[in-house]
Amino acid sequence: MRTPIIAGNWKAFKTIPEALALVGELADSVRGVSGVEMAVCPPFTALAAVAERLRGTSIKVGAQNVYWEKQGAYTGEITPPMLQGLVDYVIIGHSERRKLFGETDETVNKKVHAVLAHNLLPIIAVGENLDENEAGKTGAVVTRQIRGGFQGLSADQARTCVVAYEPVWAIGTGETATPAVAQQACAYIRGVLREISPVYADAIRIQYGGSVNAENAAELLSQPDIDGALVGGASLKADQFAAICAAAG
Ligand code: PGA
Repeated sequence: MRTPIIAGNWKAFKTIPEALALVGELADSVRGVSGVEMAVCPPFTALAAVAERLRGTSIKVGAQNVYWEKQGAYTGEITPPMLQGLVDYVIIGHSERRKLFGETDETVNKKVHAVLAHNLLPIIAVGENLDENEAGKTGAVVTRQIRGGFQGLSADQARTCVVAYEPVWAIGTGETATPAVAQQACAYIRGVLREISPVYADAIRIQYGGSVNAENAAELLSQPDIDGALVGGASLKADQFAAICAAAG
């Protein structure tokens, strides 16, 4: 009942020509893949070119970040109206943004509201770091992040959100959570969503992220509470990303 969603988080990789080459290859590679929503999230500089190239294909486009105001004296920021017509999705609260750029549950929540108010769909990233994991705090951390991120949303808004569960220790490390561990965390997150509101908990798609690749995708994606993947490194290779999408379809 939940359509899986695979999103590629390109991070700070790819110039405009490189981005166009990658999506050109990707559009060919995923021809014939169905039953899965696919999106790429290039850096801001390549969004317009990539969106133009992908128009009319089954691949959607997302941004990796956004500011919460509509416009104003915010040097260097990109606002939701600037993304309208260009992207469908916006990743919010990725662990790199939380760790390196000081994002908090409060700023994540402001961004979620701003994005939804402009008819864009947030991919809200949550997940514990290694210390928190080893201290047995995974549940407490994701509960705080989910409750913070979803604060003040209506049921209609909440049901359109995507959650990405990304244990920080698995991101870019090659150390994927086992399917059982990833499933347990995603089921836990769905339980937290159910506590907030039973109305939408079963509608929300929960992705797993952290060293997903063409080899491990199928087993992760076959778990009942894992509805897709947020893919970093492997999304920079068309054949790898296409294989992950095919595994979800
Ligand atoms: P990774 O990154 O697939 O390279 O581990 C995932 C992410 O940061 O979203």
